[in-house]
Amino acid sequence: MSEYIVRAENLVKTYTTGPEVLEVLRGVRLKMRAGEFLAVTGVSGSGKSTLLHLLGLLDEWDSGTIYFDDQDVSALSAAQRDQLRNQEIGFVFQFYHLLPELTVLENTLLPTMVANSTFSWLGNRAKLRKQAMEILAQLGLADRAKHRPAQLSGGEQQRTAIARALVNKPRLLLADEPTGNLDLGTGGRILDLLEDLNANNKQTIIMVTHDPDTAGRAHRQLHLDRGRIHTSSS
Ligand SMILES: Nc1ncnc2c1ncn2[C@@H]1O[C@H](COP(=O)(O)OP(=O)(O)OP(=O)(O)O)[C@@H](O)[C@H]1O
Ligand SMILES: [Mg+2]
Repeated sequence: MSEYIVRAENLVKTYTTGPEVLEVLRGVRLKMRAGEFLAVTGVSGSGKSTLLHLLGLLDEWDSGTIYFDDQDVSALSAAQRDQLRNQEIGFVFQFYHLLPELTVLENTLLPTMVANSTFSWLGNRAKLRKQAMEILAQLGLADRAKHRPAQLSGGEQQRTAIARALVNKPRLLLADEPTGNLDLGTGGRILDLLEDLNANNKQTIIMVTHDPDTAGRAHRQLHLDRGRIHTSSS
């Protein structure tokens, strides 16, 4: 097993809009050991979400390499990459992205439908539902399982998004501004939860935030500035 769960070398990402080329990431390096809780900070527009999307294999980059367990992910087929993303990486989006017509339990189960063929999903449905209910219970959502997102508070929606990210038991959890849309108290409880997942479930976490206090809850901080990573002073 590799020393690092995920590693980025010289990542470059540009966005081209008409004649304009925006260099968002200009040679980003990052190494992440299993069990770590890392915060990536930076001002709005510095490329935090972009970096997290690349690490989550949700988008393409221009040059540089991402390794997952020392495996260069660009050497994988599209299907292998999809499988890696779905099974090993859980993503909590900056704006929950819950499906409004599905219940909390159904939203949580979505990644298990991607991971299993319809046939095997139907065969395993009872087990997967039990697994999802256990995660919802751990996140304090057991009695909200049949609610739809519109019937939930912001904190409950965010916890549902975290439950969905955890349902396939990913080795790496990527969280984009997990407290960004929440009041201080609710955000604090989300951070307590991430801390607990890291300490007690040994969940490896990369959290992106513009807020220094939020970042302070992680064990290590990296700062993104003008497209490059700087090790934080703290
Ligand atoms: N699809 C896109 N096309 C063109 N430009 C984009 C695209 N996505 C992001 N950008 C630009 O890239 C830069 C970085 O965006 P990104 O969303 O990564 O920033 P961020 O650090 O997450 O900001 P915030 O803290 O506001 O969420 C911004 O200037 C943004 O306008
Ligand atoms: Mg962002």
